[in-house]
Amino acid sequence: MKTTISEVHKHVDQEVRIGAWIANKRSSGKIAFLQLRDGTGFIQGVVVKSEVPDEIFQLAKSITQESSLYVTGVVQKDERSPLGFELLVNGVELIHQAVDYPITPKEHGTEFLMDNRHLWLRSRRQHAVMKIRNEIIRATYEYFNENGFSKVDPPILTGSAPEGTTELFHTKYFEEDAFLSQSGQLYMEAAAMALGKVFSFGPTFRAEKSKTRRHLIEFWMIEPEMAFCEFEENLVVQEEYVSHIVQSVLKNCQIELKTLGRDTSKLENIKAPFPRITYDDALMFLRDKGFTDIEWGDDLGAPHETAIAESYDKPVFITHYPTSLKPFYMQPAPDRDDVVLCADMIAPEGYGEIIGGSQRIHEYDLMKKRLEEHGLSIEAYKWYLELREYGSVPHSGFGLGLERTVAWLSGVEHVRESIPFPRLLNRLYP
Ligand code: 4AD
Ligand code: MG
Repeated sequence: MKTTISEVHKHVDQEVRIGAWIANKRSSGKIAFLQLRDGTGFIQGVVVKSEVPDEIFQLAKSITQESSLYVTGVVQKDERSPLGFELLVNGVELIHQAVDYPITPKEHGTEFLMDNRHLWLRSRRQHAVMKIRNEIIRATYEYFNENGFSKVDPPILTGSAPEGTTELFHTKYFEEDAFLSQSGQLYMEAAAMALGKVFSFGPTFRAEKSKTRRHLIEFWMIEPEMAFCEFEENLVVQEEYVSHIVQSVLKNCQIELKTLGRDTSKLENIKAPFPRITYDDALMFLRDKGFTDIEWGDDLGAPHETAIAESYDKPVFITHYPTSLKPFYMQPAPDRDDVVLCADMIAPEGYGEIIGGSQRIHEYDLMKKRLEEHGLSIEAYKWYLELREYGSVPHSGFGLGLERTVAWLSGVEHVRESIPFPRLLNRLYP
């Protein structure tokens, strides 16, 4: 019976046939242990010399790492393996013999592994991270579909710059100048006025010369936008959505979390509500912690975010940042003009900002004034301003960075491992 490693639990004590690769192998004179992978998972195949024809044992003993094959064998319970099963092999058919696979079981440097990303993806660790990424994507669609959101796809080629003009990738659009999208938000605001509650999920480009463990040049963002939604309501959606993702990963990625050695006790408690702290209070907190030279109006850097996050065991919202630190579209606080109705969600364990969001300005005159203050072209933003001319309503939304969330839940140090083919400051290959 042909099956996959993820399905072997349905075939205990039965004979199965699996198309697989050799992830690793060790053997003695009497027994060969084949670490098999098929994309759905990893399983140990045991070949016992005395129980198979001699040519099968010789083939199993000599087969090289990453060769492809069909194996047949009987599924057996094995409490020690993360999967809980192993395969007592009775047949091996070689499909393709791999010669000198570059990634051996020894330690390799990161640059070498990144140069071989197309192969590194096959490793147990990278496989686990990609499965967790996939579960977050699945749980994202589930959450938004169950809560009345429609998916809307904003354009990738754009003529506007929602998050500031310094980080744009330029390209030619025939005779015109165009940019790769750095956020779909402005289009999602238009979509929210048509469909009420919407979300997008797409690639995002930032020509940022940042070389940190949290920055990619190309990353994926989930951007919900809601009409008739005010600041506090927006935070409730965010904490419920993030709780849903975390609980889904805990439930459906047990093998992967175990493979990665993730301390899941740090994730179990991630359930709404999350704490909120204003920028003003964050500043006082930081000064108490010894960050004495931070002044009102300074942006919070990674060490600041980490210090704040460390005093909570859940993600924390930092709200009401100074207007001067944030993009043009954010709604001022009702009682004071120098801060905006925004919140960044900071993940625990030093993973930094995973969400940026806000209530948007819905009043025409104020939006026009802000565009002018930011030196943006009223002509280019004509359509965006028109949203404030025809039945404008309070509305809010946010953007969650997929890779930072994957890195956090997987417990990997750097976002480069949380996307299949990372685009980094000095890396466009493979
Ligand atoms: O805070 P950002 O820049 O917010 C926006 O783009 C808003 N327009 C979103 C919205 O309200 N619709 O980005 C949102 C999130 C960040 O919190 C972070 O998780 C992720 O996107 N992000 C990055 N992830 C990886 N590499 C980068 N260079 C990132 N820049 C932002
Ligand atoms: Mg941000």
